[in-house]
Amino acid sequence: MITKKVETFSQKNVLLNGEWRENENGERITLTSPSTREEIGSVPALSESEVGTAVNAAKEAQRKWAKTPLHERKQLLYRWADNLEEHKEVIGTMIMKEVAKKKSSAVDEVVRTADFIRHTAEEGVRLNGELLTGDSYNGGPASKTAQVSHVPLGVVLAIAPFNYPLNLSASKIAPALMTGNGVVFKPATQGSLSGIMMMEALDQAGLPKGLVNITTGRGSEIGDTLVTHKGIDQISFTGGSETGLSLSKKAGMIPLVLELGGKDPAIVLEDADLDKAAKEITGGAFSYSGQRCTAIKRVLVKEEAADELVDKLKEKVEELSVGLPEDDADVTPLINDKGADYVQGLIDDAIDKKAKVVTGDERKENLISPTLLDHVSTDARIAWEEPFGPVLPIIRVTSEEEAIKIANDSEYGLQASVFTQDIDAAHRIADQLEVGSVQLNGKTSRGPDHFPFLGVKNSGLGVQGVRYSLLSMTRQKVKVLNG
Ligand code: NAP
Ligand code: G3H
Repeated sequence: MITKKVETFSQKNVLLNGEWRENENGERITLTSPSTREEIGSVPALSESEVGTAVNAAKEAQRKWAKTPLHERKQLLYRWADNLEEHKEVIGTMIMKEVAKKKSSAVDEVVRTADFIRHTAEEGVRLNGELLTGDSYNGGPASKTAQVSHVPLGVVLAIAPFNYPLNLSASKIAPALMTGNGVVFKPATQGSLSGIMMMEALDQAGLPKGLVNITTGRGSEIGDTLVTHKGIDQISFTGGSETGLSLSKKAGMIPLVLELGGKDPAIVLEDADLDKAAKEITGGAFSYSGQRCTAIKRVLVKEEAADELVDKLKEKVEELSVGLPEDDADVTPLINDKGADYVQGLIDDAIDKKAKVVTGDERKENLISPTLLDHVSTDARIAWEEPFGPVLPIIRVTSEEEAIKIANDSEYGLQASVFTQDIDAAHRIADQLEVGSVQLNGKTSRGPDHFPFLGVKNSGLGVQGVRYSLLSMTRQKVKVLNG
């Protein structure tokens, strides 16, 4: 097995059936930086037949990989993680350029990804099956024993979003490999240069030929071919709810794990520690310019605490730096102009509906200053739609019940935060919220990465998180021993 460390990254081609190749027709997609608008590279736009090559290669390689001992799979993952961490600066710099994430967060993403891969390797070797005795169920003889084991599904299609081009790709690829699956990896187009670098690090760690294949190209062009290919045995998708819903209709009867959008509320009661709430909400709403599924996307505050909370939020939000990812600014340009136009549309609509701008609402191209809107009415689109940008609406409520109702009236159900010093109220509210996770006195966020992470309603299907992702990529195989 090759154990070479990555010396240089070429980032030019895709890995298909063990070879770094250009595509046959030479058609490429040029990528520019969302912040500097300079060209940063290009990736092949694969054809349908090349997508087929990717799936078939993964299928072929997986048969052998499924028989590879767990400790060998674990060693591959460790070498991959070490390669990534060793190159955190160069890979982090590419993430920064490609998706305009501030430099320190981009480098942190590489380290978080390496940690995730190692944790997956450790947990993966402990995924034991079970032995069930028949007992004398229904009065029959106790002569049957079931041997239940976790077997791989086959080929996992990993489709990743732009906002964590490494972490949300590896969080699918690592558990797939550890459980003996092959992989077809479809990175977000804006994010595929970082994704290719990550795959170079894996390949040079000794990836068996054909086991992971990269399919670059626009989702709108190659998505259907990928999703409906008969060789795909599971789809693990992170992205927008609309894309996820449309994909799920086409996929047929294969297991799906979907991590989709959110409209996470922060509910603030009158007895909350408002300094803490303001700090957590600001971090939760504006990190990576609000381009996180788990960003706090609305505040539902009891009228009695609203004025004081708004003052404290204003102070915190105005401390955020706005500028370029290269300068490690907190709020950086959005992924593209279309995204910025959408955010601006939501701000303008809220203002039309009598919202008050507390701070922000300044824009230069795709750079929008962190914007706080107070007195937002539930008629405003921003009360319900996901901006994926640096804007936070504050909706004042008169009761706990009203806060819960507005929280639950959403089409989304990813996470929620509750800020109060009354432990009974915290649990009472948390129990009624229709979401995957509730954070008590803290901002919404996915990690630590071994916690279960899931959304309900239009926020997703299935569960991610180290152990849960591993399990989702296996099925149970039962052998019944008849005595
Ligand atoms: P997106 O537009 O839905 O794209 C996600 C991925 O799907 C990309 O790789 C995209 O490829 C691909 N894709 C697009 N059309 C497709 C199709 N017809 N068939 C198959 N694949 C297709 O989402 P995004 O803009 O990257 O990310 C933003 C959204 O993702 C937000 O709504 C956010 O809340 C959500 N998100 C959720 C989570 C979570 O864990 N819940 C995490 C991150 C992001 P191209 O790039 O080539 O279009
Ligand atoms: O964008 C969606 C991610 O799953 C959010 O992860 O909470 O660690 O930023 P995060």
